[in-house]
Amino acid sequence: MEKVYIAGVGQTPVRENWEKSLKELAGDAALMAIEDAELGYPEGIFIGNMMSGTANKQLQLGALIADWIGAHHKESLSIEAACGSGAAAFRAGLMAVGSGELSSALIIGVEKMTDSPINEITASLVTASDAELEGDFGVSFVALNALLMRRYMYEYGWEARDFSGFSINAHANAVHNPNARFHNKISTADFERAGMVCDPINLLDASPVCDGAAAIFITNSRPNGKHRSVSVAASAAATDTISIQHRANPMQLFAARESARKAYAQAGISPKDIGVFEYHDAFSIMAALALESCGFCEPGQGPRMALEEKIKIDGEIPVATMGGLKARGHPVGATGIYQLVEVTLQLRGEAGATQVQRNRYGMAQNIGGSGSNIFTHILRQE
Ligand code: COA
Repeated sequence: MEKVYIAGVGQTPVRENWEKSLKELAGDAALMAIEDAELGYPEGIFIGNMMSGTANKQLQLGALIADWIGAHHKESLSIEAACGSGAAAFRAGLMAVGSGELSSALIIGVEKMTDSPINEITASLVTASDAELEGDFGVSFVALNALLMRRYMYEYGWEARDFSGFSINAHANAVHNPNARFHNKISTADFERAGMVCDPINLLDASPVCDGAAAIFITNSRPNGKHRSVSVAASAAATDTISIQHRANPMQLFAARESARKAYAQAGISPKDIGVFEYHDAFSIMAALALESCGFCEPGQGPRMALEEKIKIDGEIPVATMGGLKARGHPVGATGIYQLVEVTLQLRGEAGATQVQRNRYGMAQNIGGSGSNIFTHILRQE
């Protein structure tokens, strides 16, 4: 594969955005990335989205968004891999540009969740599970993660309150991100008195339902030097059983471990070389499992890393540096692109108050389903 560079990035604020439609959100992020890249329209457009068919009664996002942003007659399509749709679309665009088929591509992640009542969105989210074995029985996505968290607590002896470090870190970082959904710091006491969503997951363990779009412009030629140059060092994906009941060991995210292993091998590095990790903290339990699966700590030790503040900006492995899914927000199909935009800003040295110091390599991992389809990307400062 040829070397692929990130030439431009764009993102809209993550929030309840009732003033903008799905295509307007996507268009705003897309045009920001195009303007940032200064290379005109891309040759191809790849869109990550999970639920526009159910939540917005709109499919055909490829044609819809190409037309809306004035990229007339360009090839354009959308890709779905549940909450991993953004990184799935990025990987597709990367393969097109890296193979030489296209010289440039724009990858957009977009999701508009808050126009629908919460019960409809909950029903849409659970389509990421196995309908016959999970969704059709009335389980929600929060409930599936609650089962995993309960099992984890049983296996490793943690209490629910021991997971507070993930959310405290995410909210502290989000305060400095103007695009984040939440700008409030939280304390251990706030975490302990947060309302229960699905025992043992409380409100501060969960990512919020929200709207947002982010975009990245990639190219096979080195950009003009306006920003510090960033390239893609690795891209890998792996799947696991879609239903959690079929996993030999549900406490291991096999697809996270496998995609990370392949990504480290492609980049020729190990976890200790990663200076920033945008993980998929849709729920605290996913944050713990991601840290363990990607080799940042031993199984069962994720909560300890957070409690000992090893995940802070100046810690061993800074995570959720702009708020993560918990506090920047999780507009599901857009999340993978927000993560890659944030890693790019870190490697460019443009991350402001939450800039990490060790910024040669950054990793983003985007999880679809309860760990069933996982995409890991490593970006490198050139
Ligand atoms: N963290 C912190 N505060 C939150 C929050 C969260 N995750 N979600 C909502 N809030 C706050 C809101 O800001 C609002 O505060 P306010 O009253 O001060 O304005 C209040 O809680 C109620 O917000 P609302 O939007 O009505 O919440 P809700 O009850 O409809 O939904 C959840 C809350 C947690 C049930 C919902 O966000 C959810 O289902 N999250 C998980 C989504 C999911 O499964 N994503 C896929 C993961 S892979």
